[in-house]
Formats: sequence, structure tokens, C-alpha cells
Amino acid sequence: MSIRFFRIAAVYFVIAIILGIIMGIAHDFTLTSVHAHLNLLGWVSMALFGMIYHFYPEAGNSKLASTHFWLHNIGVPVMQGGIALSILIGGVIFTVFAIIASLLVVLGGILFMVNVFKHVKA
Ligand code: HEM
Repeated sequence: MSIRFFRIAAVYFVIAIILGIIMGIAHDFTLTSVHAHLNLLGWVSMALFGMIYHFYPEAGNSKLASTHFWLHNIGVPVMQGGIALSILIGGVIFTVFAIIASLLVVLGGILFMVNVFKHVKA
């Protein structure tokens, strides 16, 4: 699970910094929260998940880790897409998508915590 997290983290990093550069050049900071979340949930969090799953293979190879992986990787793009579209276009449907997807990310986070307590040991 760690390699997948590392690869996807690297993709989010590039997308997030390109968005940051575009925001800076355009002097338009409407999507700052999307940029920040792509960096922090996409790049930083996934790189950390990858590292923890790499150093603790019992955690990384568990069913909890693969469920966490899918919840996070369905949740983050739908959440960020929903937030971006609700900022740019508006409409309750995008907000609903963002809320539901955020809940998937939270659920994945809870599974990650359970996995850490179960399998990450000295
Ligand atoms: C080439 C790389 C990057 C560029 C060009 C860039 C650009 C920007 C810009 C233009 C803003 C808006 C500033 C404002 O609203 O005044 C911003 C905000 C932010 N960026 Fe980046 N950024 C980069 C990398 C990163 C990275 C690597 C992270 C985190 C790991 C990050 C996290 C944030 C956060 C949290 C904010 C919101 C700050 C706030 O609202 O106070 N950025 N960035």
C-alpha cells in the first residue's frame, strides 16, 4: 500500500504546486483552500501514510490499510472537486458532494487510527 500512496502523493504535489503558481501569477486566490487541501490531504498526508505503511508492513498489508486507501482516494478528489466547483460555479449539489466525500475521508482516517493502534508497535 505504501508505494501506491507515495506515487499518488507525488501526483498531488505537482497538481497542488501548479495550482499555487497559477494562483500567484493570476493574483486570484479564490481556490486557496483547494490548493491547501490538495497539498495537505493529497501530498503531505498521503506521503505520511505511505511512510507509516512502509515502516510497519503489518499495518500496510492489512485490510484496514486497503480500505483506508480507497476511502481516502475516492474522498479527496471528490471533496476537492466539489469544493472547487461550489466556489467557482456555486450550487448546493457540489456542497453535498464535498460533504459526503469529506465524510469518506474522515472514515478512512478513523480506520487509519485503528490500524496504527492495532499494528504499529515497537
Ligand atoms: C511551488 C509551490 C507553491 C506555490 C507557488 C504556492 C502558492 C500559494 C499561494 C499563491 C497561496 C495563497 C496565498 C494567499 O492567500 O495570500 C498559497 C496558500 C497556501 N499554501 Fe501554497 N504554494 C506552494 C506550495 C505549498 C505547499 C507544499 C504547501 C503545504 C504542504 C502549501 C500550503 C498552503 C496553505 C496551507 C495555504 C493557505 C495559507 C493561508 O490561507 O493562510 N503550499 N500557496
